[in-house]
Amino acid sequence: MRTSVYGLIVLAIGLGYAIVRYNVFGGVSVEQLPLYVTNKAVSVAGLVLIVTAVGARPLSGWLPGCGWLMDERRSMGMLGLGLSAVHTVMSLMLLNPGYFGKFYDAGTGKMHLAAEVSMLAGVVALALLVVQSRAGEGSGRSSLRWLGVGVLALSLMHLGFMGWPGWWTPGKWHGGLPPITLLSAAIALVGLGLGLVPRRG
Ligand code: HEM
Repeated sequence: MRTSVYGLIVLAIGLGYAIVRYNVFGGVSVEQLPLYVTNKAVSVAGLVLIVTAVGARPLSGWLPGCGWLMDERRSMGMLGLGLSAVHTVMSLMLLNPGYFGKFYDAGTGKMHLAAEVSMLAGVVALALLVVQSRAGEGSGRSSLRWLGVGVLALSLMHLGFMGWPGWWTPGKWHGGLPPITLLSAAIALVGLGLGLVPRRG
């Protein structure tokens, strides 16, 4: 129950940010709100849930009132997987030069190398998430943890290869708001740090 409420809150914050950045300041038509803009919120919410699941142990020790994270980390990870799967389906519907001109070569109509590497990293991250979810309670804690770290490292690659050039041009950020790829990369980095915190016992 707490996981669903947490997921809904994260999704609402992500959607609010995406609407302000893209529809209000970025000149994106409201016609693109249902799929293109919502996809951004869904992808970030999935990532935040994965990060929270990976970091549940240290976070529950450090933050007062967060003991419940340890009990719910499995459902947290499953919801993260579900949202990432929805993000994948939405992205597949949108993947064309009309929506993502920067991914494609104008002459050949094919993807640039960086875009292909980014998409591959996303697909492998999703596959690892599925493997992790299937591994279940029976598997060693350490293998589940390393799978989570792998998912986050691949997500970072997914984001870096698609967003890197835009991270260094703050003058062009819509409304002065950082790109969601940059915010997401920071979130994934925090998750990697949490996943690498040495465990006792
Ligand atoms: C664990 C798996 C995945 C995670 C955690 C993830 C996460 C993210 C995040 C946080 C963004 C940034 C949103 C933005 O700036 O708009 C993003 C963008 C994107 N992802 Fe993924 N992703 C995953 C898998 C995939 C897969 C499998 C595909 C392939 C279909 C994909 C395609 C895209 C596309 C096309 C974008 C650009 C969206 C946009 O800018 O509107 N992702 N992803």
